[in-house]
Parts: sequence; C-alpha cells; structure tokens
Amino acid sequence: MARILIIDDDASIRQTLQAFLLEESHEAQACASVEEALRFGNSECPELILLDVRLGGMSGLDGLLVLKVQYPDCRILIMTAHHDMESTIQAMQRGADDYLHKPLDLDELEVAINHSLAMLESNSMNGGLDVPLQYTPGMVGSSPKMREIYKTIGLISSTLATVLITGESGTGKELIARAIHDAGERSSGPFVAVNCAALSENLIESEMFGHTKGAFTGAVENHPGKFTLAQGGTLFLDEIGELPLSLQAKLLRVLQEKEYSPLGSKNVLKADCRIIAATNIDLPSAIKAKQFREDLFYRLQIISIWVPSLRERPEEIPELVKYLAAKANYYLKSKVRRITPEALQCLQNYAWPGNVRELEHQIFRSVTLSQSPNLDVYSLSDELQQMSGVFKESAEDLSPEQLSLADVERAHVCQVLDTTQGHRGKACDILGVSRPRLQRMIERFNLGST
Ligand SMILES: Nc1ncnc2c1ncn2[C@@H]1O[C@H](COP(=O)(O)OP(=O)(O)OP(=O)(O)O)[C@@H](O)[C@H]1O
Ligand SMILES: [Mg+2]
Repeated sequence: MARILIIDDDASIRQTLQAFLLEESHEAQACASVEEALRFGNSECPELILLDVRLGGMSGLDGLLVLKVQYPDCRILIMTAHHDMESTIQAMQRGADDYLHKPLDLDELEVAINHSLAMLESNSMNGGLDVPLQYTPGMVGSSPKMREIYKTIGLISSTLATVLITGESGTGKELIARAIHDAGERSSGPFVAVNCAALSENLIESEMFGHTKGAFTGAVENHPGKFTLAQGGTLFLDEIGELPLSLQAKLLRVLQEKEYSPLGSKNVLKADCRIIAATNIDLPSAIKAKQFREDLFYRLQIISIWVPSLRERPEEIPELVKYLAAKANYYLKSKVRRITPEALQCLQNYAWPGNVRELEHQIFRSVTLSQSPNLDVYSLSDELQQMSGVFKESAEDLSPEQLSLADVERAHVCQVLDTTQGHRGKACDILGVSRPRLQRMIERFNLGST
C-alpha cells in the first residue's frame, strides 16, 4: 500500500484513477493542478504522483521540476494523451519515472506503479554499496590472484625484462602494462601502444620500424616508427598473437639484436625500449597450428603474467563496481551515490564473459539510465536481470516471515503455472486475473521460461 497523488484537470479521470487505486489498496488523493498539489504539507507527502501534462495553470512538465523540489523522495509517473517525442524526452530528463499514454490501460498502469514503488522500496533498504565521491584513476582488485600480480609488477618494474601478459579479453591487460611502465624507472619516458591486430600486413612493418621518404609508393616523407617513438620508455605490443608471421621473424631479430632499420634506410637504430606484449589467444595452441613462432614466444615471455578472468575472482566485483561507478560519475557528470543490494546481487550473480570491460560498460549504462542517486536493479540490462535470477533466489533464500508481498505473489504465480503445466488460460482462471495481467506478472517476475 502506498500514498499516491493524482494530478489531472479532468474530473472523470481523477475519479476513475482514485477508484482503481483504492481497489488496489492504495491511499489515493486527487487534485486538479500542480499549484493545488504543492499546498499539501510534508506530513502528507505522497510516495508516488500520477501527473497529467496539460493542466490549467502550470504544465505537468514544469510541475515535475517543482514537485521534485517539494517532494524529493517521491516517484512521478507522467500521463498524457499527446504523445510527442520531445515531451517524453523532457519528462525523463526532468526526473519522471515513466511516461504513460492516455487512454490509460489499467494493467499497464498497475505495472508502472508497482515498478516505481519497488524502486522506492529498494532505495530505502540498508546494505548495498556507497559510491566514493572522488574518482582516482588506477587499478583496483584485492583478490589473492590480483595481489600476486601486483607483487610481480613490483618485482619486475625496475628491470627491462620483456613481459608477456595473457588473459581473456577485458581482464585488464593494458592496465597492467601501464602499471608496469608507471612503476618503473622509465615512467617519465613514453608509453607507446601498438595494436598488432588493427594494422594491415604491409603497413605494420613501417608502423613498427618507420620508413624514409620514398621507401615505397605513398611514402611522401620520413615517418618515425613505434620503436623510435617509444625510445627511453615502453613499447606495448597489444594482441601480439595477431602479428603476421613475416613480422614475427623481424620482431624476433630486433629483440635479439636490440637494433632495427626503418624501411628504405640503411641506418641502424638502437632499440632502447622495454617491450611488453599482450594477447588473449592461447599462444601454445597458435604455435602448434604454426601461426606463432615458438622462438618468439620464449623470447617474449621472459616474465609472464596471466590475468585471471572476472569469474575467477568474483570477490572483487563490489570494489570494482564502486570504482567504476565513481568513474562513470566523473565522465558522465552524474551523481549516483549508492548501489542497491539487489543491483549488487545481480551484478555478483552474472558470469561476465566480457570481464571487467563488460562490467564497466554495464555500470556506465546503468549510471546513464539511473533516475535517482541509487543505482537499482531496474537500470541494469534485461539480460543481466534475467541471467542472474535475482528474483528467483531472493524468494527461495528467505524464510516465510521475511518474504515481501511480491515474493509471495511470484512464488504463487510460479506454482500455479507449474500446476497448469504452463496453460495460461487455466492459470488465469485459478488466479482470477486477466490474460494481459498474467502476462505482465510473467514478465515482471521473469517467469518467461516457466
Ligand atoms: N582491475 C581493474 N581496475 C580498474 N579498472 C579495470 C581493471 N581491469 C580492467 N579495468 C578496466 O576495464 C577496461 C578493460 O581493460 P583493458 O583494456 O586493460 O583490458 P584488456 O585485457 O587489455 O582487454 P583486450 O584483451 O580486449 O584488449 C578498461 O577500461 C580498464 O580501465
Ligand atoms: Mg587490450
């Protein structure tokens, strides 16, 4: 049950909505204008407002701004008969939870109300994570596996030994390469990254070693290669597994002799940079398939660092989430302050095949879509909500006296669908609900596969 305020200048709509909300056991008040709604004292502060757009006096869109100031914790649903894209965008920008079209479909309205109230409830729950106010770029993660990596970085940073970093895509290999560079004596020198997969076979040689004017058609002037640019610093060879075989031979020679010549030049230059290579492919298999030279592999992995996938260090998810949310706030100029317990549970239940990069994209997306200072489960992608099965587990893990009404409702709908072997018509008869309503419950509770 919630305290809901209807603001609509049409008396018949006020009446219909009030009757519907009372029937749904809510406390419903109604008024005809925003000005009138602002006269309610804070003791009568509504939890949810259903707000019409075209009103006598202040419009609903302008009303949104003042109502948000007067009732900061209240959720607002906009309803209008005039659907245009601009006002929808404006309403969402101004903090509306949702936008409903008139004539209202009561099933749809019910879903939207329940959704808003669930957000309100999850925002007021204890637990979850506080997002740090400051974003300091760096590397986080304190699992034993990552601590081992930090130790290795500390041990090798002062040497010039070649390092090979392996691990799945998005695990943080480039970040580790930068950390090795930053911790070393040459941190004031350049860090130059080359993506070996992004260059065509005939360009990569001149990209790496440079060329002189006239070395080949199109070489209109001298061009310094990455080895030259990385002089005195670090050269990061990303996706080394994609390097064409012909270049592998040349690279091996440079690593052995510490010398190279730009294309078209007889000058021999000194290769004075630390080499760090990274790959997400399994080099031993590539060697077996004759796609990667074994001698180059041994030359590169004088020191090797294997970065575990996020699945292998799930205990790091909370600290990564805090860090990434602060990062998202910084870059998106947003103000997410908390991650709700359910959202965190969802994030922890998911397998993250794309590792930290996928987690980062998810957090940036959710921070963008969050309509409140709390990042809740509804701002996560549908896939994440479904895959993680957060709703299923929350009901099963709790004892009956800890269950919310929604948990019980879900369990009952689930059981009825089970008994009727998924026959929705029979399930509707037993539950005493319409088909659209059952459909919405199935969607809301993620019972699609039942
Ligand atoms: N431990 C970590 N702490 C903070 N941010 C991280 C961490 N690991 C990865 N990231 C972030 O995740 C994203 C992906 O990391 P990075 O580019 O280093 O991965 P990668 O292993 O090089 O991926 P790929 O194999 O696809 O090139 C980056 O934005 C990076 O800043
Ligand atoms: Mg990378």
